[in-house]
Amino acid sequence: MEHLIGIDIGTSATKTVLFNAKGEIVAESSAEYPLYQPQNGFAEQEPSDWWEATLSSLKAVMDKSGVAKESVMSIGLSGQMHGLVMLDIQGKPLRRSIIWCDQRTADECEEINQKVGRERLIEISANPALTGFTASKILWVRNNEADIYDKCRHILLPKDYVRYMLTGEFATEVSDASGMQLLDIPARKWSDEILSKLDIDKSLLAKVYESPQVTGGLREEAAKLTGLKAGTPVVGGAGDNAAAAVGTGVVSDGKAFTTIGTSGVVYAHSSKVTIDLKGRVHTFCCAVPGAWHLMGVTQAAGLSRKWFRDNFCSDEVEAARGTQYDSYDLMDAKAASSSIGANRLIYLPYLMGERTPHLDAWARGVFFGLSAMHTKADILRALLEGVSFSLKDCLTVLEETGVSISDMALCGGGGKSELWRQILADIYACPVKTVRSKESAALGAAILGGVGVGIYPNVADACKDLVEYGSIYDPVSENTDEYLKFYEIYKDLYPRMKDSFKRLGSV
Ligand code: XUL
Repeated sequence: MEHLIGIDIGTSATKTVLFNAKGEIVAESSAEYPLYQPQNGFAEQEPSDWWEATLSSLKAVMDKSGVAKESVMSIGLSGQMHGLVMLDIQGKPLRRSIIWCDQRTADECEEINQKVGRERLIEISANPALTGFTASKILWVRNNEADIYDKCRHILLPKDYVRYMLTGEFATEVSDASGMQLLDIPARKWSDEILSKLDIDKSLLAKVYESPQVTGGLREEAAKLTGLKAGTPVVGGAGDNAAAAVGTGVVSDGKAFTTIGTSGVVYAHSSKVTIDLKGRVHTFCCAVPGAWHLMGVTQAAGLSRKWFRDNFCSDEVEAARGTQYDSYDLMDAKAASSSIGANRLIYLPYLMGERTPHLDAWARGVFFGLSAMHTKADILRALLEGVSFSLKDCLTVLEETGVSISDMALCGGGGKSELWRQILADIYACPVKTVRSKESAALGAAILGGVGVGIYPNVADACKDLVEYGSIYDPVSENTDEYLKFYEIYKDLYPRMKDSFKRLGSV
């Protein structure tokens, strides 16, 4: 039997999954690592943590599964997007990676707008200058850490750093490269115009492939450390959302998915380049060669729940220990005991600034309407509802761009919560269907690997055979009506606080 490996280098952990050619999980392993927040709005990770997590989880799946290394036909990579990895002449990281949710680069976004021109930037990169994207992070290092910038010889994205360590190749692929703000999105290649206007040397950047293309083979040393065969092909893979799209079968027009990971994303496939001129949602190349996608992003989706768990739910964490339950299951059970609207408590999930629809690095989280009668159950429910309202904002903007959405799937860690699924269906006012594979991004990356080595004819056909759906959550119309009242208030809150957020950040 042939096997495929998908590796997803996420923000909280790297998950490695070994699939058989039918897309069934044979073995999986994950390894967590820290997120460093040295200042309010900063977010960094150690590239060596991603690499060690990749090595240990690869070794674990090979050991656990006992499959012959010759049966592993390919490795596909997926990962958190936008993170800046800078390497010196020896290929060693020069500093921690500044990752996607870091918000320090407001000045550099201004610099990009001035040098490229806001409209021209949107024409080429299909997106306005954003603090989360890589280009502004590169300029920040040049403006603030000139000695590091001078020593930099290679710029890579997180999963592409892992690829470099696996294969020795400096390579990326169109979907993840789209989030650097240096790619010509309609043409699917680096933009000489943006690079020259920003004075960034093209030789710093990796070679761009389409997602299913083979980018290199596993190095001897990496093979020894993991139990895999030297030379095993490593394909381009995709940014986590484009990979999850493949893993949820969202590879043709009309299809969309919501993922609740650390961030939350509402993603729609598009066979043509469609751009939101207001820049509220992103347009990127997708993992299907010759196609694109649009997506809106909630910066702190699963992160909101994780933040609350890590700071205020030690009881639930303790109670879940050694049982079949996860601490999130116990938190959900409490949230379910509150009611729609969390007894009139509204949460704005802007812990790490916000992208869709506000594009505001200064925004921060808010509990609005807090009263002495509120309990932990209300707060937990407000968190789930507030993130869902923000995802509804994403869906609304996507629909405003004219992209068609007739089918909504749901994946990601948060998508495992039955309560959250129903809240989302009620707030979206549309059915939401679950996906059987719980690791959509890793499955997507593995499928891309299978296409790359010729096991499957193309991405769409592979998805038809491999992606299976589970239960469907239909909206309950009375709930939808009830949520709408709170959503209307939710939408009013940000504009009223916009200036105060900026003042708070500038004190
Ligand atoms: C997408 C984005 C996040 C990260 C982390 O633009 O920033 O989804 O990829 O998951």
